[in-house]
Amino acid sequence: MSYMALKHLHLMMVGLTLVFFVLRSGGLLIGMQWIGRTWARVVHHVIDLTILASALGLAAHLSQWPFYNSGWMTAKLLALVGYMVLTAIAIRRQKALLLLPALVLVLYAGWVGVSKTPLPF
Ligand code: HEM
Repeated sequence: MSYMALKHLHLMMVGLTLVFFVLRSGGLLIGMQWIGRTWARVVHHVIDLTILASALGLAAHLSQWPFYNSGWMTAKLLALVGYMVLTAIAIRRQKALLLLPALVLVLYAGWVGVSKTPLPF
């Protein structure tokens, strides 16, 4: 797949995960049942794993890899995993406060994608 196609897929999935995150967070806050259903969990995981798969495709084009020769990609990968884990725990255990650090991590991953540096200072 071409670099631009992968990047479009990556960014489309980033948009989708944010929409889904906002919907599920809202659902948790007002006590809606669908947010914890299997289909909702599967859809969210498929979106996030597509972010990861497209990211690895981009990494292959750039010959830069997390934990090998790219600090900013390492930071993004850790942020994505942290975001997925925190969101899953928040929904499963009904702990809305965990959504805050999850949101910070996904926004951080987006910022790192634009700045290509893991630290803001
Ligand atoms: C939720 C997690 C993620 C978010 C929100 C996110 C967000 C973004 C954004 C906004 C861009 C566009 C940057 C630009 O056009 O200037 C981007 C590009 C990119 N991201 Fe991600 N990303 C995430 C996860 C990852 C992961 C885990 C990796 C690698 C392991 C990764 C690797 C890349 C690469 C290689 C690019 C292309 C850079 C370029 O062509 O300029 N991303 N990402």
